[in-house]
Amino acid sequence: MTEPQPGEWIALGLAECIEEGQSKSFKLPPELGEQPIAVFHHQGEWYALDDCCTHANIPIADGPVKDGCLMCPWHYAEFDLKTGACLSGPATEAIRSYPLRLNEKGMIEIKL
Ligand code: FES
Repeated sequence: MTEPQPGEWIALGLAECIEEGQSKSFKLPPELGEQPIAVFHHQGEWYALDDCCTHANIPIADGPVKDGCLMCPWHYAEFDLKTGACLSGPATEAIRSYPLRLNEKGMIEIKL
């Protein structure tokens, strides 16, 4: 397997495994460090963020989403689902977000 190049789209998994209103955590391929990425299917759109709250470095993929706002399930910091910007504490830093697309085979792909 060749190593992904900068700017290349990285396949995470099939979109059909995430229903509307749901989310799922995927891991980047081993050659990219297996970092967890949280993918959200919200109001017909798709979003990808690091699956790691910036407050205490805990997974955030299971957090509830309302009107484009993701709430951390641990201490309730809020983040903009689209940009990862921190909207309320106790977190103070944004979560990294990634460009996401669905390819012609229905695979979720992100660009690092
Ligand atoms: S771990 Fe997310 S707010 Fe504390």
